[in-house]
Amino acid sequence: MIDLSNVSKTFNLHNQGGAVIEVLSNVSLSVAAGECVALTGASGAGKSTLMRMIYGNYLTHSGEIRIGGVDLVQAEPRDVITLRREVLGYVSQFLRVVPRVPTLEVVAEPLRALGASVETAEARARALLSQLNISEPLWHLSPTTFSGGEQQRVNIARRFAHAYPAMLLDEPTASLDAANRDVVLTLIEEAKARGAAIIGIFHDEAARRRVCDREIDVSRFATGMAA
Ligand SMILES: Nc1ncnc2c1ncn2[C@@H]1O[C@H](COP(=O)(O)OP(=O)(O)OP(=O)(O)O)[C@@H](O)[C@H]1O
Ligand SMILES: [Mg+2]
Repeated sequence: MIDLSNVSKTFNLHNQGGAVIEVLSNVSLSVAAGECVALTGASGAGKSTLMRMIYGNYLTHSGEIRIGGVDLVQAEPRDVITLRREVLGYVSQFLRVVPRVPTLEVVAEPLRALGASVETAEARARALLSQLNISEPLWHLSPTTFSGGEQQRVNIARRFAHAYPAMLLDEPTASLDAANRDVVLTLIEEAKARGAAIIGIFHDEAARRRVCDREIDVSRFATGMAA
């Protein structure tokens, strides 16, 4: 479902004297439907960079990134938008939302974008918010003032509303208590059971062992060269 071949990443820091940082070179990996693969490696190894490349937030200059057969490196912007709406869900480390939009709408939005009715999308959003222990009085407020853990759970609810065939999870349990971590890990297990291919970054080893089938150490793709 997710196939990378010979993907490399170099950052050119034009505003810092043209410094060039080579982060990743020749990354090849595959994730099958129903499988969860963990990205590991020291801080700065390139885990989040690789995830942003797969989502198309960072440009990839060489290699192929195929999601369900579509090569993201070559895809037109509108194909990337369609892929993100229907196929590829990304839970970033921090929630970014438009101010003043109530939590219920934030969570329902991905389903609305897929054509679901307000009733259907909000029913699903309510179910996920309850499951993730976001108290009902908060549903009608914007999540911008929520605690770190509450924002993280809103971010997760939003991306688990639709059954994406492929998912990218950047530290989805990082600021959660044990009970909420358990809910999130259960959601991940359910996504795998329905056939989602998942790439995750988990600093918590117990969480990683519970949901991930394999680990890929990103440091082995490091070039270790800064010119
Ligand atoms: N937009 C950017 N511009 C320049 N360099 C960047 C950019 N994004 C990441 N880097 C560099 O790429 C390297 C990898 O960063 P990345 O965030 O992918 O690490 P990570 O493995 O996710 O680390 P952590 O575990 O700390 O989250 C770092 O040296 C970082 O400085
Ligand atoms: Mg990171």
